[in-house]
Amino acid sequence: MSFQKAIISWFRKEQRDLPWRHTRDPYAILVSELMLQQTQVATVIPYYHRWLTRFPDFQTLAAAAEHDVLSLWQGLGYYSRARNLHRAAQAVVATHGGRIPADPAAIRALRGVGRYTAGAIASFAFDLPEPIVDANVARVVARLIDLREPIDSAKGQAALWLEAGRLVPKKQPGLFNAALMELGALLCTARNPRCDECPVRVHCLGAAAGTARNLPIKKPRKKRIDLIEHCAWVLQKGSVLLEQQSGPRWKGLWKLPLLNEAPRSQPLHSAEYPFTHHRVLLYVHEVAPPSKPAANQAWHKLGELDSLPLTAPHRRAIEKLSAP
Ligand code: ADE
Repeated sequence: MSFQKAIISWFRKEQRDLPWRHTRDPYAILVSELMLQQTQVATVIPYYHRWLTRFPDFQTLAAAAEHDVLSLWQGLGYYSRARNLHRAAQAVVATHGGRIPADPAAIRALRGVGRYTAGAIASFAFDLPEPIVDANVARVVARLIDLREPIDSAKGQAALWLEAGRLVPKKQPGLFNAALMELGALLCTARNPRCDECPVRVHCLGAAAGTARNLPIKKPRKKRIDLIEHCAWVLQKGSVLLEQQSGPRWKGLWKLPLLNEAPRSQPLHSAEYPFTHHRVLLYVHEVAPPSKPAANQAWHKLGELDSLPLTAPHRRAIEKLSAP
């Protein structure tokens, strides 16, 4: 049996029931793919449903206030994805009358849509024979062709996209791409791949060479860097002083006010959280109210923070510190 037939027939039997596999709506697929970029399936599912209920189409999203968009994304992290999605919706409304065209180049031109996401929309929504390479597919294909180049190098990426492009069939490309991904998620896993259950084992050069479980190769990791963040806990009449971010990464999100230097006091609270290749050590100190908040600061009632877009580590700190 051909590689394509074998993997599709396995997929039909073994696939997980995931909500975005029940739709061909390019908008819903874009939403799901952006959410899935840095977040696990189980976490994404409730966000995906809430998002489509609140913003069912490009028009509704394009017309929404950024505050509401960020607020619904809250907890997923990497907020630039939400901002890009919002801008992409505005572009789709402004230039394509509210519908994504079935054209890979036009899809790729949207904000936050890279080669992978464009391929996912083209193949899942429009059944165009466009390849996709995400982390799961990269692992599957690297093993399949016994790729000895790092998959995160330019050479490795080029080899993966070339092979994914060769493999994707004209018939049912969307189903095929989903099947490649699912094989990576369920059998061709990073640790302990289940080659004995693999429907395409006879096609796999890595399995034949005995290298499959040592692939893919990756470039050496960047060293993790520790950052220290001192923040203020300022309370006044049941309200907490917060500050709105303006830097590129957290723009629009609220957090506890940053202190320029470490106070001598013992912190009320400390926590660690990962941030790209950093580990942030957060210390929160009790500070007296200022006579006037700074321009980017405001008082927020402690009981009314649910709908405020707050960074997740700061929300946890506030919840700890305001618990009775
Ligand atoms: N990860 C990224 N996209 C996915 C999808 N469409 N299904 C399952 N996992 C995914």
